[in-house]
Parts: sequence; C-alpha cells; structure tokens
Amino acid sequence: MGITIKGLGFYVPDKILTNFDLEKMVDTSDEWITTRTGIKERRIAEIESLVDMAYKASLIALEEARIKAEEIDVIILATLTPDLSFPASACLLQSRLGCTKAYALDISAACSGFLYGLEIASGLLESGRAKNILLVGAEKLSQIVDWTDRSTCVLFGDGAGAAVISSDGDGEVLASVMRSDGGYWDILYGEKCGYLRMKGKELFKLAVRSMAEVCEEVIKRAGVSVENISLVIPHQANIRIMQALAERLQIPMERVYSNIHKYGNTSAASIPIAMYEAMGEGKLRRGDLVLLTAMGGGLTWGASLLRF
Ligand code: UT7
Repeated sequence: MGITIKGLGFYVPDKILTNFDLEKMVDTSDEWITTRTGIKERRIAEIESLVDMAYKASLIALEEARIKAEEIDVIILATLTPDLSFPASACLLQSRLGCTKAYALDISAACSGFLYGLEIASGLLESGRAKNILLVGAEKLSQIVDWTDRSTCVLFGDGAGAAVISSDGDGEVLASVMRSDGGYWDILYGEKCGYLRMKGKELFKLAVRSMAEVCEEVIKRAGVSVENISLVIPHQANIRIMQALAERLQIPMERVYSNIHKYGNTSAASIPIAMYEAMGEGKLRRGDLVLLTAMGGGLTWGASLLRF
C-alpha cells in the first residue's frame, strides 16, 4: 500500500515585509537579520484569515491531485494560530471546500505540525481507515508576534501549505520518528491570548541536535545511505540551523532546500510550502527519496523519509 502525496499547494499573502521595513520598526538591520537567519523578507496576512490561506492552498493541492473535495475522508490542519479557539479551523475549511464526507480536526504541534500530521495521516491510510487525506499547515504568526521585540519579530511570517495524501500510488513513508519533550515548554511558547516568546540561543542548539538525531535514526531504520537521499527539506527556521544540520548529516547544502529568504519561519506551513516550491523548481521529483525534518515549540520534533 502506498502513502502518496498526490498534490501539493501553497498560498502566501501579497503583503511583503522586508528587513528594511523592520529597520523602521525596531532596532535591527538588514545585515544582522540576513547574516544571523538568512531571512530577507516575509509575508503578512493583512486581509486574509487563517482559513482563507488554508483554503487557497488546499484548492491547488486538490486540483493537482485530481481528487474531488467529496473524496476527502479526513482533514488535518496543523496550526498554532487558529481563527477561533473553537471550532477547529479544519471544520471551517471542511465547509469552505465542500468536503462533505470528511471529519476535520486541528493539531497543535507548532513547527512540527506538518510532520506530526503526516505521521497521523500515514497511520490512517495504512490501516485502511481513510483513502484520501487533506493535510494542511497554515499559520498567521503575525497576529501573535510582539512587534516591539526585535529578537522574535524579524523571524516569522504568514502562509499555508497543503498536501493531498492517498493510500494508492507509488509513494511511501520509508521511516519516521516523532518526539516531544514538554520539559522545554518555556523555550518557545505562546502566552494565553498574548505573544510568542522564545529563548533563541538555547533553541538553536536544541534544534540542530534534535533534528540531526531523528534524521540519523530514520536513515538507519530505512536502511538507506545518505547518498541516496535526493533532497532534505528542513523546517525553515534559520539558514544557520540548516547548514549545521547538513554538516552533521554530511549532506552538501545543494541537497538541502531553503526558501527562508522569502518567507521567514512560517511554522507548520514551512515544509509544505518548501515542498511545493522544490517541486516547481525541479528539485523534488517523483520517485525521489526526500528527508523532511522539523523542530518547534513543545518541544516537538521529528523526521520522515519519503519516497515521493
Ligand atoms: O521554529 C522553531 C525553531 N526556531 C528556532 O530554532 C530559532 C532558533 N534560534 C535562532 O534562530 C537564533 O538564536 C536567533 C536568530 C533567534 C538569534 O541569533 P543568535 O545568533 O543566537 O543571536 P543572539 O540571540 O545570541 O543575539 C546576539 C546579539 C544580542 O546582542 P548582545 O547581547 O550580543 O549585545 C542580541 O540582543 O544580537 C542582538 N539581537 C539583535 N540585533 C539586531 C537580537 N535580535 C536582534 C535583531 N537585530 N533583530
């Protein structure tokens, strides 16, 4: 039985906030942001709700997959910035899309949300409890960023990525490892009805170490060699984290995908957006082995090795 990502889609708002714009808002510089993070600009949802972005990304994924809305059995929406505290944004998305036969739920796993969702979706598809699943990572982080805090406001952006995953086709999940450690909750968290707070330096070290460990574990479990992995798509948090990860895995940066310069950190949306763009650029092809990895608030982290 396959676990095939049949269609991908993404949406980012038109409004671009550059590093130069941020220079006028807080005591920072384009030079600092670029060298410390790799980010040049990010998108900000001024008029779009979270569900608007998720909807637009999902329409593209459904069309690409050639699957009708009513053929979707489950909608999983990973987000830490839902439009309402309840119902789940996934339910609002279900109704907008007309997925009349789907049940719909949100998951909260911060930047690892897309990978956690992929793990849950894989289990449902493998067990035969679903045939087609719509998995979306969407974030409106601009609404929880403290725009007076230069240590965080330069990092994040808004956007959505979607994937239609089916139990037929030639794709497969060769191995996956998911982890969490709530003991580190205060390294990256959202205040109740307040702002995102982060201890960047500590998180940086934990991110490199934890992602490297789970990547090494999935490579070992899948019994493949690093040379056979066509592309690594890490969560887009910081280009220096990706470089350190690549060094540790001994994978050249040419095989590590990054679009952080354009979108910053979009949390749960970053991996599906990157997958969509990597496909469009011909860097992610059918049949390729692709390694996905993420780490974020929770702490949560994980890695999945896919035959795409
Ligand atoms: O999505 C979940 C995963 N997220 C992450 O993994 C994020 C991980 N952390 C990071 O990416 C990095 O730690 C940051 C980009 C957040 C910070 O980079 P850093 O190299 O660790 O800088 P730092 O926090 O050690 O700060 C160095 C200096 C400090 O000044 P002093 O104390 O040396 O005088 C900061 O106050 O840079 C200062 N600084 C800034 N300066 C200009 C912090 N933010 C800024 C800023 N502009 N925006």
